[in-house]
Amino acid sequence: MTTTAVAPGSFDPVTNGHLDIIERSTRIFDKVIVAVLINRNKTPLFNIEERVELLQDSFRDFSNVEVDSFDGLLVNYVRSKNANVIVRGLRAVTDFEYEMQSTSINRKMDKEIETFFMMTNNQYSYLSSSIVKEVAKNKGDVNGLVPPHVEDALKRRYNVT
Ligand code: PNS
Repeated sequence: MTTTAVAPGSFDPVTNGHLDIIERSTRIFDKVIVAVLINRNKTPLFNIEERVELLQDSFRDFSNVEVDSFDGLLVNYVRSKNANVIVRGLRAVTDFEYEMQSTSINRKMDKEIETFFMMTNNQYSYLSSSIVKEVAKNKGDVNGLVPPHVEDALKRRYNVT
C-alpha cells in the first residue's frame, strides 16, 4: 500500500520552515502533495499561481513531491487525491490550539484521514510567512529564512533593491 500525504497551507510565501517539514515528510511517505489553499477571504501577497510556482521551484529535484492548489474543505481535497494523511508542522505551543481544533473537526468529517504532526527544526520555531513579509517589507534581510528565489520574489514585490 502506498501512503500519500497532503501538506496543506497558505504558503504566502513558502519559508525554510515549510521546506524543512515537507522535505522530512518525503522520507516518511511515498508521495507528498503540497496543497496551497485558494483563500478568497484574505488578500495574499502572492496570488495562487505565484505561490504554486514558488513551491514548484523549491521542489524541482524531488520526484515524490507534487504541488497543487485547493479550494473548499481540506478533507474533500485529501479524499479526491486518494490520500490518507495530512501533514502539519508544529512550531510552538501557540500552534497547538488551532491544530487541535482543525484536526478534531477534520476527523469528525472523515475518520479515515489521519493527521501527522512534525516538530519544526528549532532554528525555525519563530519563523512564519507573516514575519518574513514584515521583515522584507521594511527592507530587512530575509536571507536564511526563505529560499533564494523567494527572497528575490519578495524584493521584487516590495521594490527593494
Ligand atoms: O498555512 P495555514 O494558513 O496555517 O494553513 C491552514 C489550512 C490551509 C491548513 C486550513 O486553513 C485549511 O485546511 N483550510 C481549508 C478549509 C477547511 O478544511 N477547514 C476545516 C479545517 S480548519
